[in-house]
Amino acid sequence: MCGITGIVSQNRTDIGQILVECSSKLTYRGYDSVGIATVVNGMVDLRKDVGKIEDVNEELGLSKMKGDRGIAQLRWATYGAPTKTNAQPHFGCSRDFYGAHNGNLHNYYEYRRELMETGHHIRSENDGELCVHAVDKYYEQTDDMFEAVRCSTRDLQGAFAYAVGRADEKKIYAVKMGSSLVAGIAEHETIVSSDLPSILPLTNNVVYLQDGEMVELTPDSVRVFRVEDGKELHREAEITSVDSSAAEKGGYPHFMLKEINEQPQVAEDVLGVLEGPKSDKWIQMIENSNRQYLVACGSSYNAGIVGSYYFNRLAGVPIIPAIGGQFEPLYGKTLDEDSLCILVSQSGETKDIINVLNRVKNDDLGKTLGVLNVIGSTLMFNADAYIPMVCGYEVSVPATKTYFSQTIIFAYLAAKLGVRNGHLDPREGEQFISALKKNLPRLTKDTMNKSGILAKELARTLIDVPDLYCLGYGLTDGVAREGALKIKEICYNHCEGMYSSEFKHGPLSIVTDEYPVFFVTTTEDSWMIINHINEVTCRGGRAIIVGEKEDKLLPYVDNDGDYLAVPKSPVLLNPLIDVIPLQLLSYYLSVDKGINPDLPRNLSKTLTVD
Ligand code: BG6
Repeated sequence: MCGITGIVSQNRTDIGQILVECSSKLTYRGYDSVGIATVVNGMVDLRKDVGKIEDVNEELGLSKMKGDRGIAQLRWATYGAPTKTNAQPHFGCSRDFYGAHNGNLHNYYEYRRELMETGHHIRSENDGELCVHAVDKYYEQTDDMFEAVRCSTRDLQGAFAYAVGRADEKKIYAVKMGSSLVAGIAEHETIVSSDLPSILPLTNNVVYLQDGEMVELTPDSVRVFRVEDGKELHREAEITSVDSSAAEKGGYPHFMLKEINEQPQVAEDVLGVLEGPKSDKWIQMIENSNRQYLVACGSSYNAGIVGSYYFNRLAGVPIIPAIGGQFEPLYGKTLDEDSLCILVSQSGETKDIINVLNRVKNDDLGKTLGVLNVIGSTLMFNADAYIPMVCGYEVSVPATKTYFSQTIIFAYLAAKLGVRNGHLDPREGEQFISALKKNLPRLTKDTMNKSGILAKELARTLIDVPDLYCLGYGLTDGVAREGALKIKEICYNHCEGMYSSEFKHGPLSIVTDEYPVFFVTTTEDSWMIINHINEVTCRGGRAIIVGEKEDKLLPYVDNDGDYLAVPKSPVLLNPLIDVIPLQLLSYYLSVDKGINPDLPRNLSKTLTVD
């Protein structure tokens, strides 16, 4: 997906500088190419190229662009290769129009042909260009920019958001149709953007938008309208609590390391929410449903797997983990009005998840409970209820603190549910909840301190390893998958996460001398996982163990460095902290390989496309 930013200012004449400052906060949304279009003396100055914003700025002087208004776009390529021509923003047919989009036009090829057959000169192979031509087309018919923007949406199918302007108007318009968009009001200047972090350098006075709405920006106003009939909607601006420090590294070399180190605070904050008055309602939603699913993608899916084990273990409730894009073909027909879909998405915008949300709502197939981090997201506004993950903005593309928050939420709710349905002894339940509240923040910090050095040293021994496995058992199944995903995402090694008892049924054939296999353990399952370690080490494989140090496991590691030990903790907390050494290992291995872990190639933080 991509990131768009539009600003209209009363007094600025060097709009390029603030557009670079604001839009660079969206780098996690896309870094294949970047471009800026500004209006100077009634003419559009449009500069764009492939590469990250700092490089293209260096090359084209983006921050030196003149004007009092403009649009910036950071691209994650979908339609059209990442080339200069396909970079955004784009002109319309006429160079008086400039604009950029985020999302996907499903009718791209048909509409492109239609526009060309009616005389439009299409310059690129990028679907975003068609949004600007559509406005150009309707302007020809209406001679009114507002109407042209409103009508342009009729021709476009898919999930998208776009911002567009005309050289002779001191306004910018933007449309929200399935991709995220939020506006902000500052002193004699206004801004619209795909995400909050790019608004914060200008203002914390924000206007949240919903799908099917459009905004008109002037230097002193943000007006919201319903696209369907053009009716103005009086939407109050509100002060967001998210502060701009979220978009700064705070002295860390990378956002990823900063966000890993924020996990002790995340534990405290999310437990504070869980101890609040709304927990009961969330637990009742589970109790009042006949079947429940944890639907998610990427790291959120791995957290969902951890959650499903907790719900079984502590509450005796089978909550099925499901991959967002797979949900409809695999479970779509099992839904009815008593189902509950727990939709887990830190961004609240992942299209695979929004598709499930829309299916459940449109066909009245039960309730939806969002587990989300971004306030103002599509999932937040449209789920029947939502649990805020309160992590603060997560900027690094690989998820860390948001995954951590999700696993804590599931562990907590499972324990509370287990006590209520009698599956868990009340005393045991209270002990676990108390351990979460009192021990977990400190334990998280101790684990980072204890395993940081070990992870850094271990990373050096893996730098030339082309591929490896990461195995878990029971409550650490999802943890092992998350560790494997981190290594894939930011180290570019192939690393498969899977269930340790399954490894002998085929994948074991990969093991040769020194082949590395991670085993993520808990003290209650190590008796079982020891069999699986044996099957690897007796064939010369290299076992790397992640978990509490246990004497019975020591004989299986060739040297101390192959034991990523975490501090002693109540067994049910093991799975929550076992992920930390794996996060740190992948981080250090990525950096050792000269990769920027915050911006791994080909990836994007939030995929608002199918
Ligand atoms: C991917 C991200 O694009 O989306 C992952 O790279 C993330 O880090 C996944 O886990 C799901 O994102 P979300 O916002 O739905 O939790």
